[in-house]
Amino acid sequence: MATATEQAETIGHDWVQVGPASSLAATGRMHTCLQGRYVSVLKVKGQLTCIDSICFHAGGPLSLGDIEEVNGKTCLNCPWHNYKIDAFTGEKYYQSVTWQDGKMLPGEWKSNGPRHRIHQVESRPDGMIYVRLDSTPGEMPSDGYAFDAACGQRVLG
Ligand code: FES
Repeated sequence: MATATEQAETIGHDWVQVGPASSLAATGRMHTCLQGRYVSVLKVKGQLTCIDSICFHAGGPLSLGDIEEVNGKTCLNCPWHNYKIDAFTGEKYYQSVTWQDGKMLPGEWKSNGPRHRIHQVESRPDGMIYVRLDSTPGEMPSDGYAFDAACGQRVLG
């Protein structure tokens, strides 16, 4: 457990307060813009996660999609083309097909690997949600739609 001073230093460097935890109560979602990047905080089954909001595929509103269980994984279902993105790992899942007696049948679910950045998120004793953006080096497909010149402040509810 970090001391208050350590927490303040961390916050001062790269943790950002994004809003009250109570605002997650109604919808379980909070959409915001940090350092020019659209991200969404979700509370699913009591657990927090923070994911790039905009779908890597074609810029759809991924973080507004329904939450579905896909092969035991908690996924956002993108409203535009129904891509399934794991809300906690950013992995994309797809259902393979098999052929039997000339018929195409649904096969097992498989992963394409991570497609969305997942950011650190915490609910702190002050009642606020804090996010620290992922800074893992290298390209992530969701980077392509994550930034917008107009995204300099909180833009969504
Ligand atoms: Fe999300 Fe195509 S834009 S699945």
